[in-house]
Amino acid sequence: MLTLDLSKLNGFLPQDYLSSREGALREAARMLAEHNGPGGDFTGWVTLPRDYDKEEFARIQAAAKRIQQQSQVLVVIGIGGSYLGARAVVELLHSPNFNLTHKDGPEIYFAGNGLSSDAMLEVIDLVKDKDFSVNVISKSGTTTEPAVAFRIFKALLEEKYGREGARKRIYATTDAHKGALKGLADAEGYEEFVVPDNVGGRYSVLTAVGLLPIAVAGIDIEALMDGAAQAMEELARPGADNPAWQYAAARHALYEGGKKVELLACYEPCFRFFAEWWKQLYGESEGKEGKGLFPASVEYTADLHSMGQYIQEGERLMLETVVQFAPKGEFLIPNDPENVDGLNFLSGKPLSFVAEQAMRAVILAHVDGGVPNVRIQMPALSETVTGYLIYFFEYVCGLSGYLLKVNPFNQPGVEAYKNNMYALLG
Ligand code: PA5
Repeated sequence: MLTLDLSKLNGFLPQDYLSSREGALREAARMLAEHNGPGGDFTGWVTLPRDYDKEEFARIQAAAKRIQQQSQVLVVIGIGGSYLGARAVVELLHSPNFNLTHKDGPEIYFAGNGLSSDAMLEVIDLVKDKDFSVNVISKSGTTTEPAVAFRIFKALLEEKYGREGARKRIYATTDAHKGALKGLADAEGYEEFVVPDNVGGRYSVLTAVGLLPIAVAGIDIEALMDGAAQAMEELARPGADNPAWQYAAARHALYEGGKKVELLACYEPCFRFFAEWWKQLYGESEGKEGKGLFPASVEYTADLHSMGQYIQEGERLMLETVVQFAPKGEFLIPNDPENVDGLNFLSGKPLSFVAEQAMRAVILAHVDGGVPNVRIQMPALSETVTGYLIYFFEYVCGLSGYLLKVNPFNQPGVEAYKNNMYALLG
């Protein structure tokens, strides 16, 4: 399913960069499999594609169907790990223009992922005259941004449908045992879904956190889990030919060699929020104790005309990872009898051919400019491909955190800001 091309690292890394890390990778893989490394209590995601709660999965599918039938809009309230995965998958498999292009199901709006009054007013305006449901997602149940947004949309629902009617349109995804949202959901009788105790926010896309909104968007969540299960099985095999081991070793060796930034690049605009999900995954997992590659993302070819200059000639602090998908459809470049732009040599050629040559040209230029390149080639986008890629990045992230000797499954820095804000708000 996934082809990893590391040939453009030649010259940037010592010959033995992988063999010298094999012992550490073996130990990292063992800790992930046995759940007993640092943060091992939060490694439930490792076997999730096989061990997920089948009864809850069926309830997710049933709830998604109900929402599709009774609502024109689903408002998804959550922030960070309680939001990015769902948005990433919906946009990757449909489009950033999901609400314009998806005619046979509810529109989806995301709220509670910031504190902008204007953004809040806009979503309220978009949904208030439509039939809508709400999926509020918060593991702790106390995060300020989603809690404030939920107050607002709960009140809107109650005003529109009465308290009883509102209850039937609210779906709460939260901790199984504790937290303010759990208490409220129990008291009001909302349908509840669980963020498993052993899965942290940024690893939760394949739990109800991501799966309910993704299913409402009409995406086949069984196929998504199948793709992840395939990755789980393949990447658990130890050895130097494991692509997760190779990629984790390469990024660690580049980091130790002085690279400080990993740029995730893609030529598909629908990848933008997947990159946002990836940035949280790697930023929160590796960025601690004064260590870690800074995860950044670029969208090509658009960013070649803005960030391209820096990447080519600025500080030599980055490596670049390009994710490439085979095209789903083909578009042929038309002929122009007058050839005004002089581009008739491309007439009749698929646009994807031009994109492929652009990508090759960019890789050559960036490697020449001192930016080592990793290329991840995937088949055309589908649910299984997406599930596979999600698990691949999660697994590499777990290995990478252990190579870096940090706990990849905590986020003390996020808690610091939350605690300060609670104090300032009294
Ligand atoms: O990955 C994480 O743990 C964070 O990004 C959380 O997902 C985010 O802070 C939201 O937390 P909660 O789900 O508790 O509202």
